[in-house]
Amino acid sequence: MTKKILLLIASLALLSGCGKKEVAAPASVPGAKTYKSTCSICHKSGLHGAPRFGNREEWAPRAANGNEILYERAIKGYKGNKGLMPARGYNHKLTDAEIKEAVDYMVKYSLPAWSVEK
Ligand code: HEC
Repeated sequence: MTKKILLLIASLALLSGCGKKEVAAPASVPGAKTYKSTCSICHKSGLHGAPRFGNREEWAPRAANGNEILYERAIKGYKGNKGLMPARGYNHKLTDAEIKEAVDYMVKYSLPAWSVEK
C-alpha cells in the first residue's frame, strides 16, 4: 500500500513537471512594466500576427534588421506581412525611451544571445 502511494506521488511529481513552458519574465528589469501594460496585449499571444514574447523563430528575422528599425517601427507604427503594429502600441503616453526599453526587453527574452546596442 505504501509503495502504491509513493508511486502515485512520484508520477504526480513527474506530471507536474511537464507543464506549459512559459518564459519567466522578470518584473523589475527595464521595459517589463511597459511590456506588461501595453505590448503584451498583442505580443503575449500573437494577437493580430504580433511576434510572440519568448519565441525565437518569430523574433530572429526581425532582430536581424537591427535595433534602430525595430525601435522606429514600434514608435511610428508599421504595417507588415503579418498585420499592423500600431504606433506606440496605441499607448501614446509612452515616451520613446519607454518604447525602446520594451523592444529591448521583448527581444532580449526572445533571443537571449542578442546584444542590446546602446
Ligand atoms: C494591437 C496589437 C499590438 C500592440 C498593442 C503592440 N504590438 Fe507590436 N506588433 C504587432 C503586430 C501585429 C506586429 C507584426 C507586424 C508585421 O510584421 O506584420 C508587431 C510587430 C512589432 C515589432 C517588430 C517590428 C519589425 O521590424 O518587424 C516590434 C519591435 C514591436 N511590435 C514592438 C511593440 C512594442 C514595444 C509594443 C508596446 C509598446 C507593441 N509592439 C505593442 C501588434 C501590436
